[in-house]
Amino acid sequence: MVTAQTPTNIAVIKYWGKRDETLILPVNDSISLTLDPSHLCTTTTVAVSSAFHQDRMWLNAKEISLSGGRFQSCLREIRARACDVEDENKGIKITKEDWAKLHLHIASYNNFPTAAGLASSAAGFACLAYALGKLMNVKEDESQLSAIARQGSGSACRSLFGGFVKWIMGKEDNGSDSLAVQLADEKHWDDLVIVIAVKETSSTSGMCESVETSLLLQHRAKEIVPKRILQMEEAIKNRDFASFSQLTCADSNQFHAVCLDTSPPIFYMNDTSHRIISIAEKWNRSEEAPQVAYTFDAGPNAVLIARNRKAATSLIQRLLYYFPPNSDDLSSYIIGDKSIAKDAGI
Ligand code: ADP
Ligand code: DP6
Ligand code: CO
Repeated sequence: MVTAQTPTNIAVIKYWGKRDETLILPVNDSISLTLDPSHLCTTTTVAVSSAFHQDRMWLNAKEISLSGGRFQSCLREIRARACDVEDENKGIKITKEDWAKLHLHIASYNNFPTAAGLASSAAGFACLAYALGKLMNVKEDESQLSAIARQGSGSACRSLFGGFVKWIMGKEDNGSDSLAVQLADEKHWDDLVIVIAVKETSSTSGMCESVETSLLLQHRAKEIVPKRILQMEEAIKNRDFASFSQLTCADSNQFHAVCLDTSPPIFYMNDTSHRIISIAEKWNRSEEAPQVAYTFDAGPNAVLIARNRKAATSLIQRLLYYFPPNSDDLSSYIIGDKSIAKDAGI
């Protein structure tokens, strides 16, 4: 049995659109920050026993089906890389050949809302790939494991690393070079403070409709994101908050513009999201330099990145004044840090 814990990540240059739905290959590179696991993480225990008669999984204490292609791809890819496991003290010996026949039980828990636009699929599939890899003594490194997690959910490949992470879209049709690499570890640029304004809703993805119908998406993937990726890498390297903030906000707004350009149009942000954008934009323009970056995924939750602790204090004061928690506008706040992707290793 192995237990692992993996945080979620939030993209500052977004992934939106697949060129291959089965392998989950994106139409552009993306860049993200891996978050502090204390508030947003998945804990997954994987167990193997000759007494198990089929693969089974429980998510947040409810049994779910493993028959979907995404789970099957991850299980198949990890099993194909399984190695011998031997522990004389515990009297355990499992050979490579045994793994193909043995069944697994998987129990996973998210300490934040599932399928609500807070990237549960990212933490979930990264944790699954990592835990299974450990259990089966898989020798692949994090980048190679990320290409397996990717086949569960695209954003998951970025959660195998901490700090700042890039998902390279790759060129190969078989997806072998579509994987995540770390740009900088969690100690780099540790002034940043992340504040998430949570509005609990359920999310639905309209990614494939965007690929089929949005001309803006094609222009974005070909012309805009490649330049932004280079600029964002530079901004992260130089701890240049003004550029980081400008790029992050512009990319989030363009992602939502693509959603609006989709037929039928997709609306992820709500009135509160729009008001948070206005407050952040006004505040940034009233100061000599930007104090905060905002980004929104497939839901109304605002992810705000403050340039330092002083800016974070001021930001939280503003948010609490305009949007008290447990109101119609907003459920709660999560305040955190960048983090390492680490396992609980039991
Ligand atoms: P989100 O915005 O939360 O990422 P998605 O629709 O992208 O929403 O993903 C939700 C799906 O991700 C769930 O229906 C489930 O299939 C999968 N998922 C979520 N959490 C886990 C987990 N801990 N382990 C495995 N899969 C998970
Ligand atoms: C808006 O990774 O959830 O959060 O690959 O279909 O599982 P699938 O999609 P998912 O999409 C994430 C989209 C996003 C932007 C991002 O995280 O880059
Ligand atoms: Co997701």
